[in-house]
Amino acid sequence: MRRTQSIHGQWSSRLVFVLAATGSAVGLGNIWKFPYIAGENGGGAFVLLYLGCIFAIGLPIMIAEIMLGRRGRQSPINTMSTLAREEGLTPAWSLLGWMGVVTGFLILSYYSVIAGWALAYVFHAVGGMFEGIGADEADGLFVDLISDPAQLMLWHTLFMLLTVVVVARGVRSGLERAVEVMVPGLVVILLALVGYAAVEGHFATGFQFLFSADFSRLNANAVLTAMGHAFFTLSLGMGAIMVYGSYLASRASIATTSFMVVIADTVVALLAGLAIFPIVFAAGLEPGQGPGLIFKTLPIAFGQMPGGTFFGTLFFLLLVFAAWTSSISLVEPAVAWLVENRGMQRAWASIVTGALAWVLGVGTVLSFNLWSEGVIFGRTVFDILDYATSNVLLPLGGLLITLFAGWLMSRASVSEELALGNTVLFRLWYFLVRFVAPVGIFIVFLNVLGIL
Ligand code: PFF
Repeated sequence: MRRTQSIHGQWSSRLVFVLAATGSAVGLGNIWKFPYIAGENGGGAFVLLYLGCIFAIGLPIMIAEIMLGRRGRQSPINTMSTLAREEGLTPAWSLLGWMGVVTGFLILSYYSVIAGWALAYVFHAVGGMFEGIGADEADGLFVDLISDPAQLMLWHTLFMLLTVVVVARGVRSGLERAVEVMVPGLVVILLALVGYAAVEGHFATGFQFLFSADFSRLNANAVLTAMGHAFFTLSLGMGAIMVYGSYLASRASIATTSFMVVIADTVVALLAGLAIFPIVFAAGLEPGQGPGLIFKTLPIAFGQMPGGTFFGTLFFLLLVFAAWTSSISLVEPAVAWLVENRGMQRAWASIVTGALAWVLGVGTVLSFNLWSEGVIFGRTVFDILDYATSNVLLPLGGLLITLFAGWLMSRASVSEELALGNTVLFRLWYFLVRFVAPVGIFIVFLNVLGIL
């Protein structure tokens, strides 16, 4: 008999699922990473490439991943082995779930450290530390933070605790309550900040930077970065969206909800760019500064602008909310498995998972100070984790999902779960998942390996 509900519970409505999946998708990826990688890769052309990856690869895979989760109704590990057995395939497909759990740990370990920076900056901003500061002082503020392992550990620990507390409380009283407050909250804050950037910043310059395409700046690496980021920003390829799908009611339309989530995530990333770049340009600063972009440049800008302390605080609060609703989804696949297979209490499972990722996070903490010279070939632990997860593990997870949903599962099962009939929409999705997405991912991989 097919399960009709997960043992972990079910979202109380379709809207809550959309909020939860949007909360997972919208995170540091949208507000911290997207602006700085767009800045490093020349702006508009990169943005176009990224949008192409989102709609041709990301959206179809999101539909597939939610579909698998809802049909399996368990942690990604057990979902994959159950579905594989049902389709007469090897239960070794559970390895896809395992790969997701490992990827989730790796991402969470550094995610929590960067989210910790945001927490620290909320306090800097409230304390009026941005007022009237110049480039040197802003640089100093950032360097003081990242060069001090003890401070970084403190904020990293605090953020991990926030994450564990929510997950420990379960689907309805933990995850659901958190996203119901924070996702609408972050949208309001973001809109206020875009308004502020439009009034106080160089809006036209920021807009032009984000939307005018200069293709000469693109290379193979930019293509990989754009594709990797499409996976990262939509939380795809590691089971987070799959496990959220396993809590979705059977009647809800997967295609419509996925579309809403993808649009929301994309709009937030673009709005974040529209909030940040006008402020960066107004202060006469550079867009291509890498991971320190929002931490080094925005405080200077906020410090010079009217209302800067208030809006600066709001900005970093936005970042914390966004990161928090994402980190809970990074923990959930592992927690669901520990509860299902190890009979652990959810609270314990959350603590164990959080503690493991916390320990691993030390590697990232040290990447910015004691080990900043790099541990392998001049790359820091943070660089390696970031590259391995976004550019290799998530796309690989996505590739395997397309193979499973597009080629190995019977068309009858797929079409039963999506309930789209034999419409144009269904056929378009099936085509994207069978051909466009896997071939796209494969070509990018070959390209990076220098084979193409
Ligand atoms: N989507 C999140 C972001 O853009 O910050 C990061 C993330 C969350 C990636 C959950 C993967 C994941 F499973």
